[in-house]
This record gives sequence, structure tokens and C-alpha cells, in this order.
Amino acid sequence: MNTVKGFSRLERKEKLDLAVRGLKEPGKAAGILESYRHPDPLVQKLHDEFSENTLTNYFLPFGIAPNFLINGKVYMVPMVTEESSVVAAAAKSARFWSARGGFKTEVTGFLKNGQVHFTWNGDHRKLETVFPELKERLMAGTSHITGNMEKRGGGIKDIRLVDKRDEIEGYYQISADFDTRDSMGANFINSCLEEFAAVLQDFTKTDPRFRDDGGEIRIIMSILSNYTEQCLVTAGVSCRVDELAEAAGDMPAEQFARKFEMAVKIACSDVHRAVTHNKGIFNGMDAVVIATGNDFRAVEAAGHAWASRDGRYRSLSVSGIEDGKFFLNMTLPMAVGTVGGLTGLHPMAGMSLDILGDPDARELMGIVASAGLASNFAAVSSLITGGIQSGHMKMHLTNILNQFGADEDERKAAVEYFSERRVGYAAVSEFLKEMRQK
Ligand code: MEV
Repeated sequence: MNTVKGFSRLERKEKLDLAVRGLKEPGKAAGILESYRHPDPLVQKLHDEFSENTLTNYFLPFGIAPNFLINGKVYMVPMVTEESSVVAAAAKSARFWSARGGFKTEVTGFLKNGQVHFTWNGDHRKLETVFPELKERLMAGTSHITGNMEKRGGGIKDIRLVDKRDEIEGYYQISADFDTRDSMGANFINSCLEEFAAVLQDFTKTDPRFRDDGGEIRIIMSILSNYTEQCLVTAGVSCRVDELAEAAGDMPAEQFARKFEMAVKIACSDVHRAVTHNKGIFNGMDAVVIATGNDFRAVEAAGHAWASRDGRYRSLSVSGIEDGKFFLNMTLPMAVGTVGGLTGLHPMAGMSLDILGDPDARELMGIVASAGLASNFAAVSSLITGGIQSGHMKMHLTNILNQFGADEDERKAAVEYFSERRVGYAAVSEFLKEMRQK
């Protein structure tokens, strides 16, 4: 394949032709890509414009996990995921916990932050001395951006000069905290920071105290931090140990609770288990974050950084038994919004928020964290009882049948046959072969 120049300026059809040109069956490929476009040209245009070089759409299942009781309110939680069993597992957990008090969530911090990273080799005391004055200029210089946010109770909450010279020669930050209310706030924060950089540069260029000292301030970059460690949500479930009997299956409830506690302890101590354990939490969280049009990469990045905040990557959730009660809790940083960004543009994101009863950002943080904890409870429960493969493969049976092009009769027969047997690719293949021979 050769490199192409000016791809972005081509018509969509031309781009599509180029993309399939080298394939075995370009006509068939083009047909598949075309078939995924929306029949309504206005809806399609909207999707085309979310990104660049858009050829078509990429569908993922949009499902619902009902019966999520969170802080006394019942939610139907929209989830977008390709992984069979994620929605079923979350729904099973949600129903289980709805009969045991449900999920309790709390937002314990609601500030986001960002930095202007710059270098300067002059006398640092000068920067510290002028900083109160500079801070006023930074606030004044961004008032055209912050006005509306302030009316809604948000805005810039703090600006600090951070001396980082012990890490990198001449390196400083202007670090600021923001309350972006119900928006995720990336554009707001980045606009403020870029304005800070311009004000800082102008201040030091024009102020006589900076003349002949250290050369010019060099702005390296101005960007929000996705490590939202001051924007935190906690979610938890708890019940008497004997109330776990339904989840424990053949095992005594007490043994189940102890095994669960041990499984989470292992995820707190061993990185190999911790990553998989947390992946199970993000199975639920990402699905809701995507359904509501939020940025799952930002939520993931913050969560994983938080999981290693003491220098070692650990489980995000903690579990134990206290006074005869089992608990499973988790606290983590999360930046999600219910206004602005894709939430207001993507019709399905708007629909998800409607289904959730139009939550504000804090409420959505609690819902997302609950979906994560529900997934975690389901995964660990399976792992410490019958293992995940039986449930997982049962859900995966439909995918395998689709791969073999099974018809309705074959599907019905396969579902019945495998209800009592272990599902596997080879076993399904064998079953269909025999059925087709008959
Ligand atoms: C699979 O997507 C997620 C699990 O591996 C999570 C876990 O092991 O806790 C089941």
C-alpha cells in the first residue's frame, strides 16, 4: 500500500474506494461499509461530522440493565458494549442488590484541574513575588470565558504557582482548579489555560521586573489533566453475610464472603490479578460512559492512575466483613458530564440520559460507579464459585452459532443441548455438523 496525499480532501466515496481497493473483494467490502450508513441523510451527516474521514458507522449493541437501586432510586441503566455477558452480569448484580438496600454513592470532590507548563531560568523569588498580581490578571484575562460558568456556580476555584525545578531544570506550572458543573469541562478548562499562558507571557514580557533576568518565559503547553483526583465518587453495597446465600450457590454464605474478601485482597496485592479485576469494573463503567456520550478514555486513564496512587497498581474495590456484614466499596476519580460535548449532540447519548431520568453530573458519577461495582460483584462471585467460563460461554453461544450461520431450528436445538453442557467452539461445530448430517 502506498501513502496517500490529501486524503481528507477527497469525497467520501473516493475515500471509501481507496480504503477497499486492495482487498480481495472490494465491491463486497464497499457494500458492507455502505450498508452501515443511516437511511436518514440528516442523521448520517451528524455522525459523519463527529469525526474526520468518516466512511460509515460502526454499530455496537445498546442494551439496558434494569433494577439498579441507587441511593433509593431505581434506574434502568443504558450500556453500550460488545462483550457478551457484561449487561447480563450487571443486571443480575443490580437485581441482587436491589433486594439488599441497593447501591449507596457519594461524590466527595467535584473539582477538575489543569496546568500551564512552562520554563524560566530567572530568579524564582521574582515569580513568587509577582504571583498574587499575576493571579488577578489571569482571572481578569479569562472573565470572558468564565462568565457563564460562574453564573451556573462554577468557574476557576484556585490558581497556584508550582515550582517543579527539583524534577526538571527551570520547570514551573501554573496549576488551576475548576468547577465545570454538569459539563465534563475539557473545552472550558483548555480555553482558560491557553488564555493563562498568553497572560503569563504578556505579563513577564512587559513587566520591568522581568527585564534582563532569565530570558523569556517559555510556554511548553497548556492542557487539562485527566487525573481528576479531586473529582471523586464512592459507591458501595453491603448486606448481612447470610443474605449472600443466593449469590453463594452451593457454598455456605460465610465461606462465599470470606472467599470474596480474599479474592479482592489478592487483587490489592498482585498486579496481574489487579489489572483483570479492574478491567471487570471498567466493563460496567465504560458501557455506561459510552452510552451517555462521555469520554471513556479519560475515565479509564484517571481510574488506572488512581489504582496506582501509592506506587503500586491495586484493585479499585475493597471488600470485607465487619460486624457480620459483608461490604464491597470503591472510590475513584471520574470526569463525566451531562451537558455539552457529545452528550448534547449524539441522539443516542441524549436518549441514554433521558432513560436515566436526566441526571446531573454528580448523579451520573454515582450511576457509572454503581455499574462498575455491579460488574465487579458479578465477576468475582462467578470466579469464586463456578468460574466465569460457563456463564460467559453460554452468552457467547449465540456468537458462535452466528459464525456457523445456524438457522432458527439449529439455534433452538443448540440452546437446549448446551443448557446442561459446556459450550465451546469445537463442541458447537460438532453439534451442528451432526445435526446437519441428519
Ligand atoms: C472479563 O471481561 C472480566 C473478568 O475477567 C473480570 C475479573 O476477572 O474480575 C471476568
